[in-house]
Amino acid sequence: MNKFSRIGFILAAAGSAVGLGNIWRFPYITGEYGGGAFIIVYLLAILFIGLTVFLAEAVIGQNGQSDVSTSFISLSKSKNENWKFAGFMVAAGLIILSFYSVVLGWILDYVITSFSSLPTEASVAGANFEKLISDDIGSLLVYHTLIAGTVIFIVLKGIKEGIEKINLILMPLLGLILFGLLIYALSLDSFSQAVSFMFTPDFSKIDSHALLAALGQAFFTLSLGVGTILTYSASLPKEANFVKSSVMVAIVDTSIALIAGLIIFTFLFTAGAESAAGPGLVFISLPVIFSGWGVLGHVIAISFFVALVFAGITSAVSMIEPALRFFIERFNISRRSATIICGGTFYVLGIVALLSMSKSFGAELTFFGKNAFDIMDFMSSSLMMPIAAIMICIFLGYFVDKKVLEEKFTTHTSQTIFNIWYFLIRYLVPVAIIVLLLNKLGAI
Ligand code: PHE
Repeated sequence: MNKFSRIGFILAAAGSAVGLGNIWRFPYITGEYGGGAFIIVYLLAILFIGLTVFLAEAVIGQNGQSDVSTSFISLSKSKNENWKFAGFMVAAGLIILSFYSVVLGWILDYVITSFSSLPTEASVAGANFEKLISDDIGSLLVYHTLIAGTVIFIVLKGIKEGIEKINLILMPLLGLILFGLLIYALSLDSFSQAVSFMFTPDFSKIDSHALLAALGQAFFTLSLGVGTILTYSASLPKEANFVKSSVMVAIVDTSIALIAGLIIFTFLFTAGAESAAGPGLVFISLPVIFSGWGVLGHVIAISFFVALVFAGITSAVSMIEPALRFFIERFNISRRSATIICGGTFYVLGIVALLSMSKSFGAELTFFGKNAFDIMDFMSSSLMMPIAAIMICIFLGYFVDKKVLEEKFTTHTSQTIFNIWYFLIRYLVPVAIIVLLLNKLGAI
């Protein structure tokens, strides 16, 4: 059977978790919310909310050993077929993948241009970035096609030969590049400034926006609410310790986010640049800093953007897998056919997202004041992911036999850990996510 080895699962789930969310998004939102205090809130969100939902997806998948819908039905007390509607979450993965592939395309462009030139001024860097995403449709189409082709090629080969293998190669390489960049950052004077920015909390900077941003980031970074962890866990052998593996993935994911933050803030502070530059931090601020470092700057720029591509590819394959498994099991079709359907869908949606950012087609692809790219982002990360997560909590907390869950957990961990998890999944986590969802909807 096509299953992960234990280490293969940990690497693949960590590969899914570690992505643009860690290296691009985490540093810029930490910068926007002022550093230390935000990180403490984020760590608490990972520990109490993220890890709880991660374990929830893992237990459903491991028990069901099938796609999202089938796994929900088989674990429910009533075996009610209506739980098949939980399968809606696999669509969120495809939507995220559509624009994630476009962003990976931008990064590919940065890898290529970093060989020859780096902008020396922020205004030039900003203009270059703007031109790339709004004008260079031809190049962007080529990049998106390259990324989509790579993702499709990998998943066609299946869990063991495709997904496990690519993670076995790319994750160590990613670790190596980040390690090299960290060593370099350590040699710079501003490293200590980055440490104090990230680890000296100033709680006056924490408001409800910061809390919700931390919660949303914890979800996105652990790949929750799209069925990824559930589907990967379905390919984890039954006897494996899913609790220990889940904790390890959360530790790896969090460590990499913190390391990426340390590297990026050290670089920024060395150049006296702003830490609160927002999404442009990586695309605009960093290249200017690298340009001041001569040849070394080019090497660092290339390594950094290659690391982002590696991190992104291992996440991208995990976004499509839940949909593939869903089609394979529920409609009894081959992996090949499922890949054609799902690959085709995200490829086309990606083109729509890409064109919606352009000068030439932006107006046609803007609805209710938001372009298609932002709509896809909003629908998936702000609506579908939290709704799926709430559904997972309510399902496990109220529609599954507690004894079954208890037995699953206590085979691998203590009764106390189970009791805490069960309390969190029934009360704290669903309430926290409902608040997050209402906030995204503008209701609070
Ligand atoms: N965790 C990934 C990241 O941080 C994103 C992701 C979301 C991957 C959902 C899979 C599913 O970039």
